[in-house]
Amino acid sequence: MQSQLLILVLACFVFAAEACTGSIYSLSDVSSAVQCTTVNIYKFTVPAGQTFSLTLATETTVNMLGDVTFGNQSWAGPLFQIRCVRHPVNGNGYTFNGNGPYYWDGLGTNGGITKPHPMIKILISGTFQNVKVLNSPAQVYSVSNPASLVMTSLTIDNSLGDSSNSQSNGLPAGHNTDGFDVSTTNLVISNSVVKNQDDCIAINRGSNIVFTGNTCSGGHGISIGSITSNVVVNDITVSDNTITNSDQAIRIKTDSTATNSSVYNIAYSGNKGSGLRRFGLLIDQSYPNTLSTPGTGVKLSAISFAGQTTSLSVNGSADRVAVNCGSGACTGTWDWSGLKVTGGVAGPIYNFSGISGFSQ
Ligand SMILES: *[C@@H]1O[C@H](CO)[C@@H](O)[C@H](O)[C@H]1NC(C)=O
Ligand SMILES: *[C@@H]1O[C@H](CO)[C@@H](O)[C@H](O)[C@H]1NC(C)=O
Ligand SMILES: *[C@@H]1O[C@H](CO)[C@@H](O)[C@H](O)[C@H]1NC(C)=O
Ligand SMILES: *[C@@H]1O[C@H](CO)[C@@H](O)[C@H](O)[C@H]1NC(C)=O
Repeated sequence: MQSQLLILVLACFVFAAEACTGSIYSLSDVSSAVQCTTVNIYKFTVPAGQTFSLTLATETTVNMLGDVTFGNQSWAGPLFQIRCVRHPVNGNGYTFNGNGPYYWDGLGTNGGITKPHPMIKILISGTFQNVKVLNSPAQVYSVSNPASLVMTSLTIDNSLGDSSNSQSNGLPAGHNTDGFDVSTTNLVISNSVVKNQDDCIAINRGSNIVFTGNTCSGGHGISIGSITSNVVVNDITVSDNTITNSDQAIRIKTDSTATNSSVYNIAYSGNKGSGLRRFGLLIDQSYPNTLSTPGTGVKLSAISFAGQTTSLSVNGSADRVAVNCGSGACTGTWDWSGLKVTGGVAGPIYNFSGISGFSQ
């Protein structure tokens, strides 16, 4: 991991761009366009089985000026990758179209044909804004920014995958369509819209991550995890998001088999959720099972719902709040005075008595 990072950092300093404008109308334009400090991307189709890969000088400005679509082929991907730049990348509202329906079979990356994933790898710092993604084959963004990055005003629309198709045996056709898979530090994701069938965001590792002002629907809500062995997630802010028609609004999931990991300083405030099918809030150390035998190898502490109220409304028979801690794995006092959950039934709180300011 560390040597990979080193190679990446070195590769980002190999050239200085000239003051010119490079235009991309096809993949064959890329190598000359990236020599310029302005790179404009026009409408084109990326040939099937190839990555549209931009490795840019740090001072380059990138503008999308047309929609980019990708040829159909079962392969590993990614479809688009962008590296090194530190100046703004402006989507100007244009779309990367993954042609999801070609791949969707209800099985995502758990089965069926190989689907290009992630669809988009982000390896830049600065700002990535106003980009739309339509119909990703599976997971959308994988984010590993080398320095501080703001991703803002993005749209991911996989809502077509909520319906079944001729390949999905009656299941929703889209599956494992995570919006943002994040293992990084110093990242803000704001004011974005995610319509999908899996996690809106999954934070697997890292620190100093803010997820704010986003709207998530159709999927599994805002997740920390799943947490595997030897990882730390700390100093995460999840604020002012709206989660609708999802399995749950907020979840922390840690692998039952994980060891030597910790999750701490996680602050939730001002979030709203409704149409929550299974849980309002779920903290579960038995992943991939749900409310089953928990592991004890991930320490959870300082999980707070303080400040601005987080209001969740669950439907029918859903649990308002369920917490399943391994013995001794959840520690300290968790201030939940800013959590209000209505509807459904009270869920279980297993093996932890440190929650304050909240009862259900
Ligand atoms: C690729 O698949 C999409 C979705 O099924 C379809 O709309 C599009 O026409 C296909 N493209 C080609 C070139 O076959
Ligand atoms: C425990 O995890 C940390 C990363 O959080 C890692 O640096 C350390 O090597 C791990 N310890 C063992 C014994 O694997
Ligand atoms: C629960 O919410 C989901 C999503 O809004 C909805 O599809 C479902 O019909 C609801 N179920 C009940 C029992 O209210
Ligand atoms: C912890 O919770 C589980 C339920 O997930 C329960 O079976 C187990 O007995 C509990 N252990 C302790 C030590 O309380």
